[in-house]
Formats: sequence, structure tokens, C-alpha cells
Amino acid sequence: MSTGVEPQQVLARAREVVSSCTGFRDTAISPSAVDRVVRAELARGRSASDLLAELQRSGTALERALLDAVLVGETYFFRHPEQFRFLAAEAVPAALRRGSPVLRGWSAGCASGEEAYSIAACLQGTAPQGVRVEVLGTDLHEGRLEYARRGVYGSWSRREAGPLLYPLYQDAAEGRVSILDSVRAVTRFAQTNLLEPLPEVHGSFDVIFCRNVLTYFSPDAVLVALGHLARALVPGGYLLLGTVEVDHPPAGLVRVGAPELQAFRRPHPREVTPPPRAAVVREPELPRPAPVRAITLPPPPPPAPSPVRLHLEALQRIEGGDEAGAATVLEKLLQQFKDYLPGMLELALLRERAGSREAAFALMHTVRDNAARLPPDLIIEGPEPLPARFYRASADAFLTLGAIE
Ligand SMILES: C[S@@+](CC[C@H](N)C(=O)[O-])C[C@H]1O[C@@H](n2cnc3c(N)ncnc32)[C@H](O)[C@@H]1O
Repeated sequence: MSTGVEPQQVLARAREVVSSCTGFRDTAISPSAVDRVVRAELARGRSASDLLAELQRSGTALERALLDAVLVGETYFFRHPEQFRFLAAEAVPAALRRGSPVLRGWSAGCASGEEAYSIAACLQGTAPQGVRVEVLGTDLHEGRLEYARRGVYGSWSRREAGPLLYPLYQDAAEGRVSILDSVRAVTRFAQTNLLEPLPEVHGSFDVIFCRNVLTYFSPDAVLVALGHLARALVPGGYLLLGTVEVDHPPAGLVRVGAPELQAFRRPHPREVTPPPRAAVVREPELPRPAPVRAITLPPPPPPAPSPVRLHLEALQRIEGGDEAGAATVLEKLLQQFKDYLPGMLELALLRERAGSREAAFALMHTVRDNAARLPPDLIIEGPEPLPARFYRASADAFLTLGAIE
């Protein structure tokens, strides 16, 4: 007997649930991931109305399965190394000047823990003797936190883009590495949602890393999460965000260093300029002017498209299993930004995976030739800022291996 509920209604409700639990804007929710979860439930014999009813309740197994499917967990050790250098050179000395007996760091949206352990190793490597280190890693995805607590990682967590800046791990069986006991001992993990205030039991922090998380959020959710992050900083503490995650300093924080560093500091109350005294002097009441009709300003121009933003959109699609959609985004990107090497490399890899070897080779030749014309150490902006030599070496490796096969 038909219940009148269509699978499309279930899919639409599932997207709403994901968005309200995570803060993701609708376009950042992978349609194929949501589709897979719902179809798997239907294939197990559950009806669409049963699923819809479950999606009206919170904390259910279906909600969990949807979140696990859409949350992107891409991460690796010492990702964006310049921010760890900043942590060692600026944030730690500032905390020591404040007389902090404990250096406290929070990796907010830590995925499988590589970032939390990297923060711990960096703090331990720079703290003088007698100063303790404590690091908290939090995420919404409980499975990734369990993985983080085990502290054993494969080669995907160690990449050329993330140099080993401080001692962090030792060799383990089968080419894997395990986190040093000294680093593990100061790092703990907890499941929390960035849309909610961090429970007070976790205290406040000298430094917070929240990178490659807000990029998926709706503008409202970004504001909510930034408010919670800023409030969890000690006065004088630092917040480090991912590249291109915000255009302006979060409320109550001031930018430090170059814009691409995405570092923000919570000023001490004494640094905040008091309001001018005149503001508190009561003026004699003046007759109210007649109301004027509000002038309607034209809407602000839409933000200029940036190649990195489009590239991130393509990466989200790849993570969500939508490689064809990602290729379309990258093609559009390259029509607008013809010389954008990171996008060319990405599209070449997608073409190769889709079996279009000739197209992949043509693109890789362009990557190699364009990269060869640039100074090798020139940093190319992309989801990861990487030197031109990285693109040349990657294209060379691809073309050489491809020619041998
Ligand atoms: C791409 S990973 C970033 C990992 C790490 N910060 C890095 O930059 O390498 C994003 C992580 O944010 C988590 N996340 C997304 N929305 C969240 C939310 N509302 N609350 C807590 N964590 C969230 C995801 O589960 C995922 O593990």
C-alpha cells in the first residue's frame, strides 16, 4: 500500500537535517552521499514514510549515518606549515609573556587528529622546561575521533606539503607510524559541535586552530561558530583559520600578520579603546525630526569569484563521490582562470581516473610547461599554498610513469 511519501521528500528532509546539524550550506552537502544513505535504507526494505518519520527526530541512527557520509575528513600532519611556524614564533612567546603555566591548544574540527597532534608537538617543541602542554581535538564525527585516539597513521597522513616540523611519530608495523607517547599523553579528544558553545569543562585556550571546516558552513553558521571560537580564547590568545575561510576578522578579534596567514588575536580588555566620553553625556532632548523615507541602497555586488573558492567546491564534490560534477566545476574555473595550475593538475588527475588518458596527458604537459616557466620557489595560491616546483615535479612524475606503463 502506498503511503504517499516519495523518496524525493525523504532526500529533501535528509538535506535539511544535515544542514541544521552541521551548519553546512546546502551546496556543500554532497547529493550523492545523501542519496547513498537513503537508498541503502530503502534497499533494506524500509519505507519512505518510515524514513521521513525517523528524520523528524534527532539523534537517530539515520541522522548519524547521514552525518558520517557528508562530513569531509581530509587532513594531514603539519598542514599549512606556515601557521605552525607562526604558532612557535608568535603565539607561544606571547602566552609565555602572559605567564601561562600551561600552553593550551584546541584543534576545532580535528577530523582524525593529525592537526591536534601536530599542535601538541609544536607546543612541546617550543615550550621551555616546566611549562605544561594540553591539547584538545574536537569533531562531530565520532568514528574519526576513535581513529584519532588510536594514534596510528598511514602514509596519507604524511605528505610533502606538510613537513615534519617537530618530532611527532615513530615507525610502526606495515609502513605506518604511531604518535610519540609524549605527544599522545598531552592530547585528548572529545565530540562537540561547533554550532554550540564548547562545554566549560574544557576551559579556554592560548591558541585555536579551526581550519578547513568553516568553508562548508552557511554564512549564519560561520558567525555562530566564530562567536564560540572567539569566546574560548584567553585574552591575548590566537585563532587560526584555513585559507579563504573569512574575508574580515571575526567579531572581537584583530588580524595579525599577512591576510593569507588567517591569524587573529583576541585583544586584552585594556587594549580595547573605550567609547568616547561624549557618548555617555546626556544631551538635552531635541524635537524629533519628521521621519524620512528609508533610502534603498542597491544590493552589494556579489563577491568576485576566486579560483581557490571554485577549486574548494570541486574538492568537496570529489570527496562526496561526484567526480563528474567536480570536473565540470574545474572546467569552468579554467575558462576564467586559464593559468591556475592547481586546478589544471586536479582536472588532469580526474581525467586520468575517468579513463581519458589523452586529455590527462595534454593537461599535465601544460602544467609542466607553465610551472617550468615560473621561479621554482614561487608560492602558488591554491587550497594548499605550494611552490611552483611541486607542480613541475608532480607533472613530471605523472608523465614519466604514464609513458612507462
Ligand atoms: C576537512 S576536515 C579538517 C581537518 C583539519 N582541521 C585540517 O584542516 O586538516 C573538517 C572536519 O570538520 C568537522 N566538522 C564539520 N562540521 C562540524 C561541526 N558543526 N562541528 C564540529 N566538527 C565539524 C568534520 O567532521 C571534519 O572532520
